[in-house]
Amino acid sequence: MTRGKQPARPRQSRAPARRFAAGAAVTVVLAVGAIWSWSSADDARGEPLTDVEARGRQLYQANCAACHGTKGEGQANWKSARADGTRPAPPHDPSGHTWHHPDAVLFGIVRAGGTYGAPPGYPATMPGFRGALTDVQIVEVLAYVKTMWGERERQYQSTMSQAGPFPSGLK
Ligand code: HEC
Repeated sequence: MTRGKQPARPRQSRAPARRFAAGAAVTVVLAVGAIWSWSSADDARGEPLTDVEARGRQLYQANCAACHGTKGEGQANWKSARADGTRPAPPHDPSGHTWHHPDAVLFGIVRAGGTYGAPPGYPATMPGFRGALTDVQIVEVLAYVKTMWGERERQYQSTMSQAGPFPSGLK
């Protein structure tokens, strides 16, 4: 063991360097953390988006955000019908009803529009996206909508979707 024979290093002379290195490391970790949390800021789970969710986010911002809000917050007074019977766009976040519907119904609404499952004569204003989005893109956009939910909403909606899954053979 040659190491033991080395003269003891004067401890104090290295301590400031070590403190500086530790400080620099913390700064780097904080900076990386800040960039990471900014890039995944829309995810209520605090996790980065999967590829499918990221594609859904782009589709959502291009096709849905104008009405439902960039964070799924919906339009003001969404619970009340307007004088002409139409309704503001509801939120998709946990304060709305989106998470109450199984996948089959969410898919139907996005594909067919606001008349889907509504009583006859209901003056829906949400357009159907059949033709504008492929079936696969509709599933992607809904995957992104689900990132706006908390654990409770996610669990509830996923259990309900066992009896009402997405249609099979999507293109
Ligand atoms: C022109 C405004 C508008 C656009 C664009 C729009 N929506 Fe809607 N959406 C509405 C309105 C309004 C309703 C309520 C039903 C109605 O009156 O048509 C609704 C209802 C829904 C619902 C049902 C929510 C519930 O609580 O039952 C879902 C899901 C939904 N929209 C998803 C989407 C998605 C996904 C997109 C984009 C692909 C989209 N919407 C684009 C206005 C819009």
